[in-house]
Amino acid sequence: MESEGSFHTLEYRYGILRLIDQRRLPGEECYVECRTEEEVADAIRSLVVRGAPAIGVAAAYGMAIAAARNMSRAPAQHVAAMESAAKLLAGTRPTAVNLFWAIERMRKVIRESGLTGVNLAKEMLDLADAIHREDIASCHKIGELGAALLPNDAAVLTHCNAGALATAGYGTATGVIRSGFRSGRVSRVYVDETRPVLQGARLTTWELSRDGIPVILITDNMAAYCMRLGRISAVVVGADRVAANGDVANKIGTYGLAILAREHGIPFFVAAPMSTVDLDTPSGSEIPIEERPPEEVRSFGECRTAPEEVTVFNPAFDVTPARLVDALITERGVVHLANGGRIDSLYAGQNGPEIS
Ligand code: MRU
Repeated sequence: MESEGSFHTLEYRYGILRLIDQRRLPGEECYVECRTEEEVADAIRSLVVRGAPAIGVAAAYGMAIAAARNMSRAPAQHVAAMESAAKLLAGTRPTAVNLFWAIERMRKVIRESGLTGVNLAKEMLDLADAIHREDIASCHKIGELGAALLPNDAAVLTHCNAGALATAGYGTATGVIRSGFRSGRVSRVYVDETRPVLQGARLTTWELSRDGIPVILITDNMAAYCMRLGRISAVVVGADRVAANGDVANKIGTYGLAILAREHGIPFFVAAPMSTVDLDTPSGSEIPIEERPPEEVRSFGECRTAPEEVTVFNPAFDVTPARLVDALITERGVVHLANGGRIDSLYAGQNGPEIS
């Protein structure tokens, strides 16, 4: 299954998951090929593929690859191999719930279908393809619903990369920006550099510029001043997990932006598919926050910027309380969390785009 656009974040063909290597962008556009579930797990862990929806889709293909590689085994061994693959893939990154959501969808089919062998392998691939397709469709819907919330001639600030690179295609926050640009609502995009891994500087500027969307890159500590100058009309970010009470985990720095936006009277929007909503996690304080290697903070790209022995704290995500989120934009509708809108309204039926 291929994705849309001028590059493919993930592409599965004939037993191989081909991933654009996001560690090398923007300098080099090259691809990593995964032939085993171990290779898929390594790619997720090492950020070859990153972004909540994209790692969910990658894990689904990891399961499909495991199903195909083990299909000639006895039924019990086949199922056991699938359970090991699920455990391996689930152990890669802890915060984005899409990973666990996708793996659980695959496991449910194994449990409930009773299929094994070639039939199970085929079913697993069909489901991974469906998860891939659904994610692209969700992003387009999120884009359409989110763009309608933006003021005219908007200058949007975004953080990290919640783009085509972070999803199966089109993006969540970046989907809102893309749709807004196409409809004339968005005129330019401020992109936070997003230390320490620079997803904003390296990835978001790359993919938006390819679409001809005007981009202004700023360092993370410039956002407050840009807001004070009146340069920002809305903040739109993605999410790694939305708790049942509407608290949002996203890339480290998001929480600070939400506080700044509130202080300056600027709307703060979170764009995420339903696969990012986790009703089993009651609030943000229960969301596991990944800590990444200290070397990411001691260096800037390839260049060391701090003493080798300095102590580092490197949380990859933070939690923004629901009261700072003016709207959560999903493919099922919009919830105005700051105005008392509730997450469970998204599950009360799929009746129209505007829910709160
Ligand atoms: O560590 P990363 O690059 O995987 O973090 C990604 C983010 O925080 C994104 O904003 C989030 O996953 C949403 S992607 C549509």
